[in-house]
Formats: sequence, structure tokens, C-alpha cells
Amino acid sequence: MIDKRNPIGAIDSGVGGLTVVRELQRLLPGEDIVYFGDSANCPYGNKTGEQIFQLGRNMLTFLSTHHVKCVAVACNTLSSMVGRLRPCFDFHIVSIVEEAAKYMAESGLSSVGLIGTEFTVAAGKYDELIHQLNPDCRIVSKGSPLLSGLVDRGDFNQREINLEITTQVDHILAREAVDHLILGCTHYPIVTENFRACYPDLELIDPAYEQAKAVKAYLEANDALNPQETGSLCVYTSGDPKIYADVARRLSLSPISRAETVKL
Ligand code: DGL
Repeated sequence: MIDKRNPIGAIDSGVGGLTVVRELQRLLPGEDIVYFGDSANCPYGNKTGEQIFQLGRNMLTFLSTHHVKCVAVACNTLSSMVGRLRPCFDFHIVSIVEEAAKYMAESGLSSVGLIGTEFTVAAGKYDELIHQLNPDCRIVSKGSPLLSGLVDRGDFNQREINLEITTQVDHILAREAVDHLILGCTHYPIVTENFRACYPDLELIDPAYEQAKAVKAYLEANDALNPQETGSLCVYTSGDPKIYADVARRLSLSPISRAETVKL
């Protein structure tokens, strides 16, 4: 039996998962949220699978001490590892890639662009999961080695960000004239305006909403919704909490109740 008053957890390599927190707060305003962002080790996208698995397990172990009733892995890169992480914990784990892939496959599009970290693109989880449901959908993907790191440092230098976006997205468009682009890294919706300015005609897909919907469906199915009206948001990070406060403001999140540096 799940304790309704326990918090939801959310994890990411850094500030990116706050884009999922935004959707969780919209859909589940009564839930307390405990967030961990591993900025000291960000970007994950340039690391090995084994390193990413270990770092993910450390964050989930930390959240288990907060008695989370479920966790949103709000990191596409880490979502490639949920198959190995799930057996290590007794709470429910929702993968952003699984939810986004389901949504994309059901959309019936014949082709879609995907920009993510180099690890996410190389791991091929989006391709695998979309093709299970819609084998005819062509996925044209490109990894960005730089974008998540720039955003995680709170470095919103427009010229540098736009240059990295156009370098990678032009590569996708040169291969296929897609009109939908999955933002396959949770850091990217923080700079949605830059994507829009560079590509006004591209339809941008932010998977955060699909993941938040899956968390809500899980809580409803298990009679585990927190009955209170307004939940809290506690942010823990291995990095600088000030950047989290800045990004939270940028995303118009409900106020952070507590922000702390924690070394895992
Ligand atoms: N926000 C993460 C994702 O969704 C990854 C950023 C990184 O650590 O490279 O993939």
C-alpha cells in the first residue's frame, strides 16, 4: 500500500528535469516533489553507459531515503538505463523516453527529427521503442555534444546556443525535411525560444507532458494521489543551487521550498 503523503521524486543530470517538474506541478499540484540534479557530473551525454548507470543509481538511492512513492527519470540519457535500474529499487520508475516514444508512435507521423545527447542518439532507445509500435516511422537523429552543458552552467549566451542548435538541426534537415522535432534532452525545452527563433516552422515536441501524464496515471491507478491542495518542491543538487533557482524562475515553477547542495 503506497502512502499518499509521500513525495514524488524526479532526477536528471542537472537542471533539465525541471522542465518535467513544470508539467508535474501543472498536472499534480498537490504533490510534494523531491528533485535531484547531478550538475557536478553533467553532462551525462558524453559518458559511458556504466558511468551513467552508477550515477543514476546513486541519485535513486538518495531519493529512496526520502521515501518517494515513484520517480520520474527526467533525463533521456539516463532513461536508456531504466531496464537495469528498475530491479534495484522497490518504487515505480517512469522513463521519459518510453512515454515520449509511445506518444510519437501513436502520432502516426511518417518521419520525425530527434535531437538529444550523443549517448541518447547512440543508445537508439527512441528508434527501438517507436519502431515496435510504428515500424514505418523514420527517425532522423543527431546528438549534440555541447547544448546540455551550456544550459546546465546557466550560460545563456544566445550566440553560442543558437550556433550549437543550428549546427545539429541543420544536419538533421539536410538528411530529411522533417517538420516535427523531438527535444530529446530535458535541458532543451529551457531554450525553446532559441529553437523557435532558429526554426520558426518546425513543430517542437517536448516529452515532459507525456511523462507527467504517466506519473499521474500511475498515482491514480494506485489510489496514491496526495489529497493536499498545494505541494512543495525540494531541490537537491551536487552543483550550485543558485542556477536551479534561476532556471525555476525562467520556467515559472512554483517556488522552491528548499534548495541544497548534496554530495552523493
Ligand atoms: N537532461 C539530460 C537528458 O535528458 C541530459 C543532459 C546531459 O547530461 O548530457 O538527456
